[in-house]
Amino acid sequence: MDRILEVRNLVTRFYTLDGVVHAVNGVSFDLRRGETLAIVGESGSGKSVTVLSLVGLIPKPPGKVEQGAAYFRTEQGRIDLLQLSEEELREVRGGQIGFVFQDPLSSLNPILTIGEQIKETLTRHLNITGEEAKARTIDLLAEVGIPDPELRYKAYPFQLSGGMRQRVVIAIAIACRPQIVIADEPTTALDVTVQAQIIDLFNHLQQTLNMAMIWITHDLGVVAGLADRVMVMYGGRIAEVAPVDDLYERPAHPYTVGLLGALPRLDSKESKRLVSIEGTPPDLLIPPRHCPFARRCRFAFERCWREMPELTPLGPEHRVACFYDMERGGPRNE
Ligand SMILES: Nc1ncnc2c1ncn2[C@@H]1O[C@H](COP(=O)(O)OP(=O)(O)O)[C@@H](O)[C@H]1O
Ligand code: SF4
Ligand SMILES: [Mg+2]
Repeated sequence: MDRILEVRNLVTRFYTLDGVVHAVNGVSFDLRRGETLAIVGESGSGKSVTVLSLVGLIPKPPGKVEQGAAYFRTEQGRIDLLQLSEEELREVRGGQIGFVFQDPLSSLNPILTIGEQIKETLTRHLNITGEEAKARTIDLLAEVGIPDPELRYKAYPFQLSGGMRQRVVIAIAIACRPQIVIADEPTTALDVTVQAQIIDLFNHLQQTLNMAMIWITHDLGVVAGLADRVMVMYGGRIAEVAPVDDLYERPAHPYTVGLLGALPRLDSKESKRLVSIEGTPPDLLIPPRHCPFARRCRFAFERCWREMPELTPLGPEHRVACFYDMERGGPRNE
């Protein structure tokens, strides 16, 4: 198996005035070359903090990556991202790992033309002349589906629509042909039609560039046509991870079942937030010693309140952190 990223036992906390927020609690996962891994879960489940921790983007303080390793396989060999200096991480970000965030406006500089911003990424990370960078920038604008790239090169972010701005951010993310692109809710701020176009663009780019992608979303509805595997997070932990078809056909964690039940109708234009699971997410200031989902789980039994379920394999690619066997309809063997 060709793993490009191996995250092991990641623990990230925030030391706030209210107490210690246990945001990410021992998360381990792999990313394979060329695949799309979707990370799903309600707001506050630790999706963003997980990926931001990997590349030194959590605010420090109050944030602190307490434990873990993140082995990134590069042409120069295997490096642990969590051991890199701030300068080395800056080199990796935008170079070998590209980012797309929810709000394109906050990712772009309002006083520079979009052409200058893309060009700047190229000249910072690659050893090319200004002229070459400009030509590549125009190619990139065309590649992400921006019409009249020569003309748009000189446009400022405020002169573009939200969808076009997000295309510019994507152009910056893929400019240096990264091995991994991390997209954190990249379509959440866009309307439904534009959302579909951006997802198509990602699918197309991923196939042509063969890059691995981590796609974060709270919307399981967009995952089906996009992801190879899905990782479901709850309370800063992985609840379930599986190939996308397995997850839809044989969800094994009661929380995943809840999320699937909460899938919005595809023709719905309403907000796609996953609100229909009863109860509220766990308070990460008070980390539980038992299953974090127990309070909301209709299958909870005595063991769930006594022990923390660890991720255990159900099949070669399917793992779940739950004591209840939904297929058999009873507790799993202890
Ligand atoms: N800068 C911060 N200071 C304090 N707590 C934070 C900070 N950033 C995130 N958190 C907390 O970490 C937890 C996980 O957040 P996050 O990863 O952003 O959730 P998600 O992306 O799944 O919506 C939340 O409880 C959130 O409040
Ligand atoms: S371990 Fe128990 S409480 Fe937790 S999800 Fe499974 S059945 Fe529900
Ligand atoms: Mg987030």
